[in-house]
Amino acid sequence: NKPKLLRGKKVLVTAGGTMERIDPVRYLTNDSSGKMGFAIAEAALDLGADVTVVAGRTSAAAPQGVKLIKVESAADMLQAVLEQFDDSDIVIKSAAVADYRPKQVHQQKLKKGDAQQLVLELERTTDILATLGERKTHQLLVGFAAETEQLDVYAMDKLKRKNCDYLVANDVSQDGAGFNYDTNVISIYNTNGLVEQLPLMSKRDAAERLLQILAQHG
Ligand code: PMT
Repeated sequence: NKPKLLRGKKVLVTAGGTMERIDPVRYLTNDSSGKMGFAIAEAALDLGADVTVVAGRTSAAAPQGVKLIKVESAADMLQAVLEQFDDSDIVIKSAAVADYRPKQVHQQKLKKGDAQQLVLELERTTDILATLGERKTHQLLVGFAAETEQLDVYAMDKLKRKNCDYLVANDVSQDGAGFNYDTNVISIYNTNGLVEQLPLMSKRDAAERLLQILAQHG
C-alpha cells in the first residue's frame, strides 16, 4: 500500500488528441492515444487524489474512478478545462492539442470538384496552457512538450513562456517513447532547470514518479 501523497488534492489531467473539423465527416487530428494522460490519472487516483480527465480523441480506455469529460476540438478542451480550473490544485496538460484548425468548418460534406488541388486554410487555436499560465492563482501548472531535439532548451523555453511550474519534456525521437507506446522517456523540469531525467519505463511508472515530485512541491 502506497502512502496517499495526494489525498485531498484535486488533479485535472488532459489526455488524447484534439479533433478539428473540416466538414461533418472529416477532421484533422494527431497520433495521441491518451495512454500518457490516463496513466497520470490512474497514478493520481492511486495516490488518493480526486481526479478529473478532459479527454479528446483517444484509443486507450480511461481508468475507472475518474470524472471523465469528453471533448472534440481545442476550443472545447479550453472551455472544459477553464470550467474545472479554479477548483483544481494540480493541472497536468498531457493532451496533444492542435495548434491550427480549419478556418472554415463546412456544414455539409465537401464535394470533390474538378480541381486537382484543394487548399485548406488554417488558423491558430488558443493555447490552453498559456491561458492557464496567465490565470493561475494557487494551482500547480504542469505542461508537456513533445520534442525531437534540444530537449532542455525547448523545455525551459516553453516552461517560461507559458508560466508553468513544471514541464515534462517527452523525447519522441527515442524508440518506445511518445505517441501511442505503453512506455515513455521523460525529463521533468521546474523553473530552476532539470529536476529528474527518467529512463525508458512504462507510462504508468513515469506518471507515478512525476506525481511524487509534484506532491513534494512546497
Ligand atoms: O497520448 P499518448 O499516445 O500516450 O502520447 C503522449 C503524448 C506524446 C501526446 C504526451 O506525452 C505529450 O507529449 N503531450 C504533449 C504533446 C504536445 O502537443 O506538445 P506541444 O509541444 O505541442 O505542446 C506543449 C504544451 O502546450 C502541451 O502541454 C500541450 O497540451 C499544450 N498546448 C498546445 C497547443 C495548444 N493550442 N494548447 C495547449 O495547451
